[in-house]
Amino acid sequence: MGVIEWLDERFKFYENFLRMKAPRHAFNPMYSLGGLTFLFFIVQAVTGVFLAIYYQPSPEYAYDSVARITYEVRYGNFVRSLHFYSAQFMVLFALLHFIRTYFTASYRKPREFTWITGILAGVLTILCGYTGYSLIFNTISVAAVRIVIGLVRDIPLIGSVLTDILQGTGSLSDLLSRYFTYHTLLLPGALFLVLALHFYLIRVHHISGPVSEGGKVEEVPFFPNLFVLEVAGIFFALGVLFIISNMFPAELGEKFNPLKPLGVGEPEWYFLSLYVFLKAGVLPLLVVLVPVLLILFFVLLPFMDKRGGRHPCNRPFYTFIGLTLTLSMAIYTYWGLITPGQSIPLGDLILSLIFVTAVSFAFSYGWHLLGGER
Ligand code: HEM
Repeated sequence: MGVIEWLDERFKFYENFLRMKAPRHAFNPMYSLGGLTFLFFIVQAVTGVFLAIYYQPSPEYAYDSVARITYEVRYGNFVRSLHFYSAQFMVLFALLHFIRTYFTASYRKPREFTWITGILAGVLTILCGYTGYSLIFNTISVAAVRIVIGLVRDIPLIGSVLTDILQGTGSLSDLLSRYFTYHTLLLPGALFLVLALHFYLIRVHHISGPVSEGGKVEEVPFFPNLFVLEVAGIFFALGVLFIISNMFPAELGEKFNPLKPLGVGEPEWYFLSLYVFLKAGVLPLLVVLVPVLLILFFVLLPFMDKRGGRHPCNRPFYTFIGLTLTLSMAIYTYWGLITPGQSIPLGDLILSLIFVTAVSFAFSYGWHLLGGER
């Protein structure tokens, strides 16, 4: 018996992996978004271990230790940039994967908990990004931390408890050691467990069938067809990540100095669509309440949207909501990117919101009326 057969008798790799069947409709980039999100999570974990060797979570040394990684440690700048960009890609791909599963109503029975564990994974991903952004301890990140803590503190009832969890006694040294522990242990550990459950549920219920053509699932062998495609996709994604990290290294910014007044903080791009509302003078409590209510809406979604076909044109109301949110996020993120440190007129924001809502409404219900049942 050869080594391969001997190993396979123990691991049952051939039977459980290579002989697996895969649905034909999964041969589509839209169905690779979750897998790519996981790929970037792995890159995060690997590069994060190397960064943790040099990083020092104290207000005096944090920035200098990142500067040392950037300028002195061999390949330090590259590994740091890989960590930075894979974080951005992980959030981006989780978001795109979320949009894909939303518009194909993949949350319908029996995948309610695949969806809910996905939401939890998404929230943990964002929190990982936020805590990591703060660790550099440059002027922008400290200002952004102050904005978030100010927002959290104003939440009725639970605001002070959440603030204590975030910053402890309130000293910068307490804050940094907490953010470091959250970023390197608690959040990735929780994310790993939640993803394990997400994958288990996908294994049990498989992915949902096609949204149209009667929803019939045609199965094809996973190996070599889908396998080769996935390996090619992984190499392509890693290639893009490596090139970007090499060409545009992550920035270091200016060291935070407690004696100097803090400049204007700019959050990460995935918070910008909310941040523009703060810049327009909308009540901070409202800006916190909107994402909380949206998360609640998404958690309850599988129990509300149960009837009719899964095609987006058969679910005009949910398509309308999804389109309004997607377009708003895209427009306001862009708006935030082009107006760093500037305020935005509230009137313009309200007008644009009305416009986006009207366009989404016309499109969703128009498609429903013209498209018929699919
Ligand atoms: C944050 C990290 C996440 C990872 C690594 C991940 C990974 C995956 C993978 C690999 C799949 C298999 C099929 C596919 O890629 O489309 C999948 C399916 C699924 N995911 Fe995620 N996911 C994540 C977040 C989310 C989020 C934020 C949601 C939505 C709230 C979500 C909801 C789902 C659903 C409903 C399915 C089943 C898809 C179907 O039946 O068509 N996931 N996920």
